[in-house]
Amino acid sequence: MKRRHFVIPTAALTLAAAFGLSSCKKTDDSVINIGEVAALTGGTATFGQSSHNGTQMAVDEINAAGGLLGKQIKLHTEDDQSKQGEAGIVAKKLISRSKISALLGEVASGRSLEMAPIAQAAGVPMISPASTNPKVTEAGDYVFRVCFIDPFQGTVMSKFALSKGWKKVAILTDSKQDYSVGLTEFFKKHFAANGGTIVGEQSYGSGDKDFKAQLTAIKGGAPDAIFASGYYNEVALIAVQARELGVSAPLLGGDGWDSPSLIEVGGDAMEGCYFSNHFSNEDQAPAIQDFVKKYEAKHGAKPDAMAALGYDSAKILFDAIKRANSVDGPALRDAIAATKEYEGITGKITLDSQRNATKPAVILTIKDGKVVYTETIAP
Ligand code: PHE
Repeated sequence: MKRRHFVIPTAALTLAAAFGLSSCKKTDDSVINIGEVAALTGGTATFGQSSHNGTQMAVDEINAAGGLLGKQIKLHTEDDQSKQGEAGIVAKKLISRSKISALLGEVASGRSLEMAPIAQAAGVPMISPASTNPKVTEAGDYVFRVCFIDPFQGTVMSKFALSKGWKKVAILTDSKQDYSVGLTEFFKKHFAANGGTIVGEQSYGSGDKDFKAQLTAIKGGAPDAIFASGYYNEVALIAVQARELGVSAPLLGGDGWDSPSLIEVGGDAMEGCYFSNHFSNEDQAPAIQDFVKKYEAKHGAKPDAMAALGYDSAKILFDAIKRANSVDGPALRDAIAATKEYEGITGKITLDSQRNATKPAVILTIKDGKVVYTETIAP
């Protein structure tokens, strides 16, 4: 990734200030500057790598087609290293130094929650491709997302468990992730209100490697299934350790499982487990297969949900820039808010008055070492 650093001597800064220059780095007005914050490294690196690949693909396509408003799009990508704290720092940097007209990202809800108030205060429209915690867009009227939210996702998985006759479920939550904490809450609420019983509740923190104590406690409750609401890294280890302890109950989870690492690390322990997601690359709709083919040719792997959502988030932004005929904050904000029935790769996207998208979810399972589509659940 290209990063340019300008070292400006203090004397020059003082001079610039004296002459009332607001910035020493001249922004390039011949392009439209767009910022992207992504976890390209660290604990959830596949999230950022995939969403970035999708976003970049949308940028390349629009630039090849002549750009927007007579200009090329310049994407400024910053890696937050999957770190809470870092997402806010790089978001601020993009806004102040790169003079971005809009901000794309993050995938993880906790990091989007950090960026959202910054974008809102600066009047820079932000679109999260994949953060599903409801609080993200509550930061204000400049903050949008192109995915469904967790009250829906939690309900989808609770209904699914009940439909399988799994009435006793144990829960494992990553207490360091707003996403996991929220998803657990929404799952529990629906499950308990619809005849299910929670037979054990345990938690851990992102980065943990040993889950034996929690799993031993969970085993005592003899659950029919275990709802593991965290991200793929820990979930894969949880599955392996559960099987080692003789726990054969299937694991259930949400979109945070979506990563090639889930099966690479979890292996056989993931067989027969289920998770909800935004998209299946097995969907035979021509537009989806066209995207899958293009992506695979470029990246040598099939796109996951983040890749498709990254692509959709950028395309929705470009569509709004075109309709606004401007990258001016308020005009662009209004145009994004007016997004209706946009035919995305992840479904038809209409942004509601709360700046969220209402879309179906898919349920995927792991079978013979592969992620396989099982069903689509409408909102
Ligand atoms: N929904 C997750 C979150 O809000 C992020 C995610 C989206 C992960 C899609 C994988 C796929 O934190």
